[in-house]
Amino acid sequence: MAPQVEDTAAGNPLEQLSLDQLRTRTSMKWTTHGADVLPLWVAEMDVRLAPSVASVLVRAIEAGDTGYPSGPAYAEAVAGFAADRWDWDGVTVERTAVVPDVMQGTVEALKLITDPGDAVVVCPPVYPPFYAFVTHADRRIVEAPLGPDGRLDLTAVDAAFAEATRVSRRPVLLLSNPHNPTGVVHTRTELTAVAALARRYGVRVISDEIHAPLVLAGARFVPFLSVPDAEDGFAVYSASKGWNLAGLKAALLVAGPEAAADLARLPEEVSHGPSHVGVLAHTAAFHRGRDWLDRLLSGLDANRTLLAEQVNTLMPDLPLLWPEATYLGWIDCRSLGLHHHSPPADQGVVSDLSGPARMFMDSARVALSSGHVFGSGGAGFVRINFATTPSILREAIHRMATSVDAFRTPTTHPRPHQLAD
Ligand SMILES: Cc1ncc(COP(=O)(O)O)c(C=O)c1O
Repeated sequence: MAPQVEDTAAGNPLEQLSLDQLRTRTSMKWTTHGADVLPLWVAEMDVRLAPSVASVLVRAIEAGDTGYPSGPAYAEAVAGFAADRWDWDGVTVERTAVVPDVMQGTVEALKLITDPGDAVVVCPPVYPPFYAFVTHADRRIVEAPLGPDGRLDLTAVDAAFAEATRVSRRPVLLLSNPHNPTGVVHTRTELTAVAALARRYGVRVISDEIHAPLVLAGARFVPFLSVPDAEDGFAVYSASKGWNLAGLKAALLVAGPEAAADLARLPEEVSHGPSHVGVLAHTAAFHRGRDWLDRLLSGLDANRTLLAEQVNTLMPDLPLLWPEATYLGWIDCRSLGLHHHSPPADQGVVSDLSGPARMFMDSARVALSSGHVFGSGGAGFVRINFATTPSILREAIHRMATSVDAFRTPTTHPRPHQLAD
């Protein structure tokens, strides 16, 4: 039995590591760019592990408990979290499967309910791997762009469903709920309307709910499978964003009641992909990492306010869309006019830089995610990861504002980013 460590210690998890400590990390966020760059791009958080998660991992290592995963513990942990946090009892262990990660789980669900060539509707700007994984699985993308407020546009969804059913026999909507990169939390009304439309057109829905634990003060998460007409849908959950466990591979694919027969066809070998140690960590997070998560959410809420105030004061013509969830801020830099010559997006290459993100890299030495890789409507935006210490966040915004000021100041010399673009 794992020790029952609870995360009751006080303190903001986002204020426990120094820049020097973070620079010793070997993950993607901290090794892709040079040591003079502040990396606020890929979705990793600058936190220590929640003690309740760390203690389970230490125990597993000490016991040599590093074999294959087994049992319903992960599903039970997600079910308990959903009941307590979202007031929803729709995670039924028999209708779940442990999968290697959210994107692999999504692809496996796609394989169950679509054929090669079928259409997958996505709502850009959206998490770039939605494009990459869907097209690598030989399915074709149909876009239903978000509205200018970063929210679902039901008219666009309707039109995309019409197109998807015209060009393919078994279309799917792949939803990001909450939405990466706009941080929008879809409301019950929006999700109910989407589910009704999907039902009318015969479109199945896969809802990626990886950011669900990261809904910030002021918004409330609604599980897609909890709305009417969503019974034949799938949802995918994971602790990897909420507790920073992307390196410990595991996620949970959940089928609605009318998708149970589809899930039963999941090939046995899929269960070989997730890591047992990952499953232990994710299970501990959902079960006992809740106090830590609450302290993280308070810290993220404070960083969200800091980000909004600083951007508004120092770069008033680059509006930030107020994120309701996630630790990602979506900044509209189109007034800089740098996005007009963006090359065609190499979607899926999350580190590809163009337009304003290229300028912030070259002259501010701040690594952001470039909006153009998020699909239609993304060019001219940057995505900033604010799951870092307040001092790093402040320094990054200061550097960005300095580079915007320099850009706006007339000069007779070509600027570095102009050469680089
Ligand atoms: C919407 C969304 N889905 C999936 C992922 C990746 O999840 P995983 O590593 O479990 O595939 C991310 C990571 O940032 C994400 O933002």
